[in-house]
Amino acid sequence: MNRFFAAALAVFLILSCAACTGRAAMAEDSSQPETLEAASGIPAPGKEPGPSAQPDAAPEEPYVRVIDPAKPMVALTFDDGPDATYSNAILDILEENHALATFFEVGRNVQACPEPVRRMVEMGCEVASHSNAHKNLSKLKKASLLKDLALADEALTAAGAEAPFLVRPPYGAVNKTVKASTGRAMVTWTIDTEDWRSRDAKKVAGYIMNYGDLDGEIILMHSIYESTADAVAVLVPWLQEQGYQLVTVTELMAFYYGELPQPDHFYGYTYFTTHGRTDTPIELPSMFPPAEPSDGAEAPENVPPEEIPPEQPPEAVPEEPPAGEPEEIPEEDTLPEWLWPSAVKPFINAAPRPIPIASKPAVATGRTVSAPAEEPVPTKDASPAKEEPPAAGEGIGSGALLPNPAVFTP
Ligand code: NI
Repeated sequence: MNRFFAAALAVFLILSCAACTGRAAMAEDSSQPETLEAASGIPAPGKEPGPSAQPDAAPEEPYVRVIDPAKPMVALTFDDGPDATYSNAILDILEENHALATFFEVGRNVQACPEPVRRMVEMGCEVASHSNAHKNLSKLKKASLLKDLALADEALTAAGAEAPFLVRPPYGAVNKTVKASTGRAMVTWTIDTEDWRSRDAKKVAGYIMNYGDLDGEIILMHSIYESTADAVAVLVPWLQEQGYQLVTVTELMAFYYGELPQPDHFYGYTYFTTHGRTDTPIELPSMFPPAEPSDGAEAPENVPPEEIPPEQPPEAVPEEPPAGEPEEIPEEDTLPEWLWPSAVKPFINAAPRPIPIASKPAVATGRTVSAPAEEPVPTKDASPAKEEPPAAGEGIGSGALLPNPAVFTP
């Protein structure tokens, strides 16, 4: 019993001392706020804020980005970067306006300048591939094509992005192999600002502002020109004032066109101009906030991997491969799941809608856009080699990194 009382007394003394010490400490440090309300700067209910209260000190509510699939949306896309100066200038504008865009980056530029890619990922922008060396992919043999795309993937993943699933072929130049045998989705654009040609911010911004209805469009620009960054500074707030939501390409496809990009499919001018707004948008909840890196990502419980359907048959492509190049038939008939960003994985069993093969003349769409050369004609005029090269010293300064080609005007 004595032991019990001794132990109880010890506990009592320890508790008393702790309480005394605490009170003494509070008394000594009279400058400390006495209440939680004072500490947080938030007045207690019924109390007026005192003269020392700072209403501005309240933490700002985090911005929650919400896309309404029923409202107008447009995808800004930027090719040929990253550029240490102008990619960041464009990201500054996007960030200030809570907007996102898609960046089709050149692998070797990423190697030289990876920082903007990290920032794009942090912001939730879509980072996609524009090949590794900006070659005309339609002139490469399949092995070289796949190697080039793999090198771009390496550069992008080393910079902190996921292995990109979307690829924009340089110059919009594709053949059957590029369109349907890389395991990726090839995406071009619907509106070409020709920013590389004019290098004039007023012309670029004016072209978009006078274009008309931009709902569902994919706008092509290049993140390597000061004039483009200047145009973006005007366009982003203007587009939002007009009621357009600025979305990534995958978001546009899911929300506006109602399907996710499929491997070995080509999404070009014909696709986008023969599809209207869907009645059944696909939601991408896991894209907000941006998905975690795909490492360790697992398919959701209700979508076991064995239920993932095989890929759809490749879209029929009329043009022939360049003469002299043996055309290989794609051997894989399973979905290359590793290519899917984790954000998209939960939705890969969504049945893709049939893609009409019949092409629709641009003039019949009512759109006055310049269409990308989806099916480049091997004439001298259409050859990318005839295009205006970048000005010396501007951007990436490499002959292989030509700006986008002249557009095909029907
Ligand atoms: Ni390009």
